[in-house]
Amino acid sequence: MKITLSTGRVIEAKEGESILISLKQAGIFLTSSCGGKGICGKCKVIVQSGDVESKSHIKLSSEEIQQGFALACMTTPSGDITIDIPKQSILTVEGQIVTGKSKDLLGLLHSTGVDIDPLSERIVLKLPKPSLDDNISDLERLKRELFANGLGCLRVPSRFMSNLARTVREKDWEITLSAIHSEDCYEITNIFPGNRKVPQYGIAVDIGTTTIVV
Ligand code: FES
Repeated sequence: MKITLSTGRVIEAKEGESILISLKQAGIFLTSSCGGKGICGKCKVIVQSGDVESKSHIKLSSEEIQQGFALACMTTPSGDITIDIPKQSILTVEGQIVTGKSKDLLGLLHSTGVDIDPLSERIVLKLPKPSLDDNISDLERLKRELFANGLGCLRVPSRFMSNLARTVREKDWEITLSAIHSEDCYEITNIFPGNRKVPQYGIAVDIGTTTIVV
């Protein structure tokens, strides 16, 4: 069976295989935040000609169904078909992930199947309180706790040293470290009193020759 795209490209489709899978095997990736379970409604295509079987029309309005919209993950061709892929369903163009229109960026990234393993993370630690028998410095206490948690070495920029004593005591020796992991060592980028695991925000800026993407 063949699936002809509105661009003129023709791809092979195996019997019983969803349009989403056939497209994927041809290197065309649609946004599929739910992983092809027919829940997110992101993998819409428009069937322009030919017969298809759709297991679900969830998230499609009756108008869309009339216009030929179908969920690519829930739809299998019954013969040769022609489809159009709306812009908002396309995940990659020439190998580049198209994220500009995505409201659900995390879902979109998960749908690519990659492991999300950021360099930066937040580490919550409960330090043991000092006592007459355990009277090492606050910094040594922090390093010892990281080591006990299997977190290896630690670099603490000197700007945090002046506040460290106050920060660790403010929430009864519970602290959150913002850290960047590199070369088997943690570099502290911030220290907060208490458990501040969430929220954590990040920003990436790609400065290209013609475009800046934030
Ligand atoms: S991938 Fe989510 S509905 Fe098709």
